[in-house]
Amino acid sequence: MTDGKSGEPGLLHGADYNYEQWLDFPEVLDQDLEYMREAGINAVSIGIFSWAMLESDEGVYHFDWLDECFERLHKNGQKVILATPSGAKPAWLSEQYPEVCQMTADGRRQPHGGRHNHCRTSKKYREACVRINTRLAERYGSHPALLLWHVSNEYNGVPCYCPHCIAAFHEWLKKRYGSLEALNAAWYTSFWSHCFTAWEQIFPNDASIHGMILDWQRFTSGQTIDFFLEETAPLRRVTPDIPITTNFQRPDVGLDYHEFARQVDIVSWDNYPRWHREASDVDEALQAAFFHDLHRSYKGKPFLMIESSPGATNWQENSKAKKSGMHILSSLQAIAHGSNSVQYFQWRQSRGGIEKFHGAVISHLGTADTGIFREVAALGSILQKLNGVVAAPVDAKAAVIYDFQSGWALDNAQLPGNVEKNYQKECMAHYGAFWRAGIPCDVIGSLDAAFEKYALIVLPMLYMLREETAARLRRYIDTGGVVAATYLTGIVNGNDLCYLGGTPGNLTDVFGLAVESTDVIAAYEKRHIVMDGKTFQALAYADALRLSGASVLAEFTESLTGFENTPANSPAITAHQYGAGTAYYLAARTGPDLLDAFYGGVCGKHGVKPCVPWEIPPGVSVQDRGGTLFVLNFTEYPVEIACKGLKYRDILNDAIICDRIMLLSLGVIIIRRYN
Ligand code: GAL
Repeated sequence: MTDGKSGEPGLLHGADYNYEQWLDFPEVLDQDLEYMREAGINAVSIGIFSWAMLESDEGVYHFDWLDECFERLHKNGQKVILATPSGAKPAWLSEQYPEVCQMTADGRRQPHGGRHNHCRTSKKYREACVRINTRLAERYGSHPALLLWHVSNEYNGVPCYCPHCIAAFHEWLKKRYGSLEALNAAWYTSFWSHCFTAWEQIFPNDASIHGMILDWQRFTSGQTIDFFLEETAPLRRVTPDIPITTNFQRPDVGLDYHEFARQVDIVSWDNYPRWHREASDVDEALQAAFFHDLHRSYKGKPFLMIESSPGATNWQENSKAKKSGMHILSSLQAIAHGSNSVQYFQWRQSRGGIEKFHGAVISHLGTADTGIFREVAALGSILQKLNGVVAAPVDAKAAVIYDFQSGWALDNAQLPGNVEKNYQKECMAHYGAFWRAGIPCDVIGSLDAAFEKYALIVLPMLYMLREETAARLRRYIDTGGVVAATYLTGIVNGNDLCYLGGTPGNLTDVFGLAVESTDVIAAYEKRHIVMDGKTFQALAYADALRLSGASVLAEFTESLTGFENTPANSPAITAHQYGAGTAYYLAARTGPDLLDAFYGGVCGKHGVKPCVPWEIPPGVSVQDRGGTLFVLNFTEYPVEIACKGLKYRDILNDAIICDRIMLLSLGVIIIRRYN
């Protein structure tokens, strides 16, 4: 697998398998094994929501069905990814210990039901998880089929306001600040008479105290990680050689995944692009690419795509079926970006419950004779030919920063312009310039990461910049690094307090400028930027800059509203040499045309190269995984790419191609240089 701990299969191909839902249908269970062989399935996730089946009352266990499931899969050639069941609690537990259910800010205990909604602080819940996890580890830890722990399911950062959580928050604050005096200073409680004189007065539901809200988000994320550590302790003790993962989601669930990723052996995530929601899938493909690169970058290692839908989902307004070709294309996109697996939710469609119409490898029709099954099986054969990429890294010289905590602080902020903040979207927009150009790019979830390996680091809207990070960025640039930052960067420090004396905070001399003010560009206004004689649109935000050494690469064509000293020709993009490096600054949001032109120039100048020498057509993505090139066509039409004088081996078709690459619509070709 990926972390070298198990030395097991190459690329994984499998699904969530809800065996317990089919115990009364032995013929279905037999059929599953046959179909799994046919589809090239080599690893399945089991037990994710099985707590009530495994423990019908406190201490009353039923492992016989799971024993049988393990044996059958083992004999059939599948490895097991065994889940711990804490994602959904059994009714008896909520009944016996109401504290396991979360509480809302107005003091209402949530009724039992749903999933992913336990109190993370509850001692009773933690004890119950440790008990069942210990049993699972002792019973299956040495089973030859066991490959990986899948801990819980999709942890999130939805806060619980019960007395246990609030008390734990107070303890967390005492550790962080040491005294109420320090806390009051950090939270700027002189504002609106918010000064606290006792820890017990602090209740974190006042959106007007930004420092408190940000700390509450940090605490909630940290408490989830703490919960994870407690629930994994028995796994670490009993099965030290079995790696541990937990399935992350798209990065907007209130968890600092960059922090969380330090605690898992292998990063894994659930990938659900909304294919065919729009007439073109290109934006969706860009988004999926961004998320894959984010998950790879947490550890700088291959990750697992541990869930994806083989067909339509059932939770969008309209969940379209995947067009023919899209399943293979989107699955290979994950592999191209560093995934070592294609796993599905779900193997077999459930008969009842809220997800009974969610896509699956085997539908209610119950046969392998379907379009979906055929694509899944075809992908199974393809993955077997790609096992060579398992250890192959993606080597990126450029990185876009997507900082979780800065994103939270920006979301909390009341700015002159609030509707267009869109932090994640803006990070993706900058990343898009690299994606379209075929330039390998990491997406770093925190500025604590090491920057030295990068030639270029992009900071889109990095609103919260900790003092120590600013100091590290200064050193990085001074010693030859290149940074590109935008409007709304370095506005507040790590306590969410505004920098005084000019932004980007603590770095004005490095950028050779200070922002005098930021105006909102209203939807009815037209603002433009001229760069190298070409005109581009400026959108959403525009800074009025005071230069102190930076040179101007592009200018606004209209004066910015409200500022006498910002006539037409005021600077829109600047560059400043600092030490051996360069700091670029983009004073406005722009469209992809300007970003492509700007980063094209910056990358060319600083030696950040695309992975292929030929021009990549719009809608096509080229990814380099250790010299294996994935050419992915997300458009609705076939594409021909000219690569004159170059020869490649087509890995899937075992053929040599030269001078041109032909791609079907939603087609993919995987090649290596041949000459
Ligand atoms: C995931 C979840 C699965 C299933 C799936 C449906 O987020 O982990 O259990 O609900 O969504 O798309």
